Amino acid sequence: MGNAAEQRVDITMSDPKTGKKTIELDVMEASMGPSVVDVRRLYADHGIFTYDPGFTSTASCESKITYIDGEQGILLHRGYDIGELATKSSFLDVCYLLMEGELPNLEQQAEFCDEIVHHTMLHEQMSHFYRGFRRDAHPMAIMVAVVGALSAFYHDSLDINDPNQRQLASYRLIAKMPTIAAMAYKYSIGQPFVYPKNELGFAENFLHMMFSVPSEDYVANPIMSRALERIFILHADHEQNASTSTVRLASSSQANPFACIAAGIASLWGPAHGGANEAVLSMLKEIGTKERIPEYLAKARDKSDPFRLMGFGHRVYKNFDPRASVLKESAHEVLGALGKTTPLLELAKELERIALEDPYFRERKLFPNVDFYSGIILQAMEIPVSMFTVLFAVARTAGWVAQWKEMSSDPANKIGRPRQLYTGEKPRKFVEVNDRK
Ligand code: ACO
Repeated sequence: MGNAAEQRVDITMSDPKTGKKTIELDVMEASMGPSVVDVRRLYADHGIFTYDPGFTSTASCESKITYIDGEQGILLHRGYDIGELATKSSFLDVCYLLMEGELPNLEQQAEFCDEIVHHTMLHEQMSHFYRGFRRDAHPMAIMVAVVGALSAFYHDSLDINDPNQRQLASYRLIAKMPTIAAMAYKYSIGQPFVYPKNELGFAENFLHMMFSVPSEDYVANPIMSRALERIFILHADHEQNASTSTVRLASSSQANPFACIAAGIASLWGPAHGGANEAVLSMLKEIGTKERIPEYLAKARDKSDPFRLMGFGHRVYKNFDPRASVLKESAHEVLGALGKTTPLLELAKELERIALEDPYFRERKLFPNVDFYSGIILQAMEIPVSMFTVLFAVARTAGWVAQWKEMSSDPANKIGRPRQLYTGEKPRKFVEVNDRK
């Protein structure tokens, strides 16, 4: 628990029914960042709820995993800076760090990699699930279904009260996610499924399962593997975002881990969350040329137009998104190294430059987020657009699993049950159908 009750705040309420009264609330101190006012006894003691749709001022849980300072553009996992992790560690090291709290030493690293590579295969019967989908099914629809269906196959890792089963479910989810994702892609293009290879690294193995065919050997370009590993690291966790909160809320009822992660995938699919990099690419293609940028900025400013500049803005970051800075550099490296032409990247940079000078975006502190550049890199790597959010899900599984484990092992864990501000009808008499207006 955080440092409870070391400070107190007085809050004065002016309630027309009960008059004005001052109540004293405990403050729980954070190790960094804002402290929180403990309102847990507010309803029991004072008969009033707090109102915060969208949770803009509400801490929904206590966590030791990820710290974000949105004003300063800081993102730390277990105290380590995201820029350093992205450039100096592997995705599996970051998974271990998120779950276990420390970076692994050599022995732990070898053991963890061994656990993951020995859980990458799917139960063979699961491949039959894919055949039930239309060929043109969105791979995220397949992900939601197949990950949820893991609970029908792995009965020995469903008991969330058993730490060993929790650990096994975590390994399975991290390990099988790339296999499930690559199979969704292979199914959509009518190619045979490709099995994982234990000697390959995490991102390299994913590229192998995506692009390898039985008739030809496939060797992943190391620049591509490294860039993909970096994208995975940058998307691994992000505190209590919508999909992670969904996982936590689903799991608060003690639902099984596979069902909870499937719920997280469903939440991530939305264009305001994980679907944004796909939307950025469509937007850049629609804009087409630098000359048309002002027209689209005007649309983004126009409140009667639903158009928003995709890849811009973030609920938490109000200065810059540290992940976007790493990816902007990565985009240059990847496109340069692959010898690709860069019209989309040039268009994106120009759009960023002009938007950052625009008073509308400056006043609202709207900056490029992580997804502004990731789509450009993925496209250069020939990853199809429909797979972009799937890759995000593969990466975010690390965070979902770590947050789920933290929550499930907390004895103070309670079922999540928010209340509401009811503004509907007061009690009224039932009206027979013939008497209704
Ligand atoms: N384009 C134009 N205007 C915007 C944009 C945008 N991308 N984002 C926010 N605004 C405006 C809003 O219209 C609002 O203006 P107002 O104050 O005049 O009404 C103001 O900025 C604040 O916006 P909110 O929607 O209240 O901010 P919120 O924190 O709720 O939304 C969000 C954050 C959803 C990310 C939003 O900025 C957005 O829709 N961005 C585009 C989608 C996107 O890139 N999502 C990816 C997020 S990162 C991730 O999930 C990994």
